[in-house]
Amino acid sequence: MITDIINKKRLGKELTFHELDMFFNGYLNGEVKDYQMSSLLMAICINGMSDEEVFSLTKIFIDSGDTLDLSFLPGIVVDKHSTGGIGDKTTMVIAPIVASLGIPMLKMSGRGLGYTGGTIDKLESIPGYRVNLSDEEIIHQVKNIDVVITGQTASLAPMDKEIYALRDVTGTVSSIPLIAVSIMSKKIAGGADKILIDIKYGNGALLTTKKDAEELASLMKKIGKIYQKDVHTIISDMNTPLGFCVGNSLEVLEVIDILKGKETNNNLTKLCITLASELVRMAKGGLIEDCQDMVMDAIKSGRAYNKFLELVKAQGGDISALSVSKKYKYIKAEKRGVVDKISAIRVGELSMMLGAGRKTKEDSIYYDVGVKLYVQVGDKVKKGDILAKVYYKHAPHLQDFKDIFVIK
Ligand code: URA
Repeated sequence: MITDIINKKRLGKELTFHELDMFFNGYLNGEVKDYQMSSLLMAICINGMSDEEVFSLTKIFIDSGDTLDLSFLPGIVVDKHSTGGIGDKTTMVIAPIVASLGIPMLKMSGRGLGYTGGTIDKLESIPGYRVNLSDEEIIHQVKNIDVVITGQTASLAPMDKEIYALRDVTGTVSSIPLIAVSIMSKKIAGGADKILIDIKYGNGALLTTKKDAEELASLMKKIGKIYQKDVHTIISDMNTPLGFCVGNSLEVLEVIDILKGKETNNNLTKLCITLASELVRMAKGGLIEDCQDMVMDAIKSGRAYNKFLELVKAQGGDISALSVSKKYKYIKAEKRGVVDKISAIRVGELSMMLGAGRKTKEDSIYYDVGVKLYVQVGDKVKKGDILAKVYYKHAPHLQDFKDIFVIK
């Protein structure tokens, strides 16, 4: 009985594979209703899951769709995923770097929902860029140019798509076991041999503490072991936005700057280099220092940027048509001091208010609005200095967002 299963979890008891299978597959075929699934998800959120339950649910999610066979690709195939954050554009930087070193990167990404943006929306800000490649197109492109960034195909872990959409509107997104199942089922079905997960914690992330991020890392590694997948994790801070730009086309422009070697010393560039070096090491082996040298050389030589251009062209995009709104306002410093904090969550909320992200799945977004930061934490500022440039369609009340910056 449906309600017996909900009650069992409400009391903190362990569900069997059979009970989970019945409930979740029942949801996919319409026998279990949204309100019943919401109730079970909340009980899981509050009472957690045993490792056994997590392994069972991961299998149920994987088996809900197809598994890609990437054995036609030479060498070790790597994949990367981030738990999401404000200004997180790492995939668009890393994939061309890694591919330019001869390592195939077939990346299926998601759309943004809420204030954490999605890579697919960002790439769609490039006029013409197609994010709905078919299986045949994906395989053809990865064989030809070593890199694809496209939307998740409908046949891969379709259970996750349904459950994630429900979690998003029922306050159940930040459950550690549910995040582990959601991400690992997609990655395992995606067919890579080795998987790198960037787990974020902080006010702009799903998880707020480093301890939670470590717990998620450990759980994901345990799932990986069962499927003989090497899972590497990097835990990174998401209290401050990643890089200087938040908003779709603004973020693509920032990616171009990094790939051209123009942005060398900020939190985003450093994280991209760390992640790309780790992926190279996972694929080719060797010392991390040597892998980092290869990554830096891919940027300095222009090979990584050329690979990005190749990727955009292959997927139909016209980089020269990328644009940002002509309307903008500045946020200026109200006093002299040192930038002590730049709140990721508040920048995310501002970019949502501007229309860069969607509140519901059905919302449309503006690609050319967003926030460009002019300072980093630790910078000295004088009264009247520009802290951020805000690109808009409909004039925002920036008075409400003064608390983005803390100056001491
Ligand atoms: N990203 C996902 O794909 N799933 C989650 O549950 C959280 C982040």
